[in-house]
Amino acid sequence: MVLFRVTGNDTSPESYRHSVQSPFHSRSRVIRFVVLVSGSGSNLQALIDRRDPSVDIVGVVSDRVEAPALERARVAGIADRWVPWGSDRLEATRRLVSVVQDLGAQAVVLAGFMRVLSADAIAAFPWRIVNVHPSLLPAFPGANAVADALAAGVVVTGVTVHFVDEIVDHGPIIRQVPVAIDPGDDVASLHAKIQKVEHVVLPEVVGDLAAGRVSVVEGRVVWIESR
Ligand code: GRF
Repeated sequence: MVLFRVTGNDTSPESYRHSVQSPFHSRSRVIRFVVLVSGSGSNLQALIDRRDPSVDIVGVVSDRVEAPALERARVAGIADRWVPWGSDRLEATRRLVSVVQDLGAQAVVLAGFMRVLSADAIAAFPWRIVNVHPSLLPAFPGANAVADALAAGVVVTGVTVHFVDEIVDHGPIIRQVPVAIDPGDDVASLHAKIQKVEHVVLPEVVGDLAAGRVSVVEGRVVWIESR
């Protein structure tokens, strides 16, 4: 989908195309990503397995030294780092941003990263941080999205991939895919169904970002025709 924007009196698609530049615009055809993780890292694995030639995963950073995701990075030959979090979110975010920048990141993927970044991270990577969340946002933000959907009795939930802003599980939505909730579902079975979708959708979106196909204009996602 391509959106067209009115610029002065010129409403042509051509004027719109030239007015939008992807935040991932680069002379290079490869974008360097750092992936932030806290847990198992199945989404990280999906990104690694995708082997998108435009996506270079230059590092994996966790707030938890025991996160299995770090081992996945080591097995794949990707630099892994542990940034202990502590109680000072501003200070922890600063340390994390510095590690991510040292790894050479141009963009960041939150793939099961269970900490809330401060505004410093958003400022360091404007519209260059994306998150995968296990619900159809704005429904069920937060750490218990799967359980919350079950408790609410909804029959459809899903996956959201969005740009990260300063509010938790908020920011311009890039893609959403619904997942049906069956009567017998519990948190484990529903999360498994959701993750199956995440493992397809997140790598696709990261590929779209790297290829410069998606941008943000006035707080909303726009898709850019191939250049
Ligand atoms: C995913 O379900 C993601 O939506 C949520 O945390 C989970 C991480 O899973 N933010 P994994 O560590 O990628 O297996």
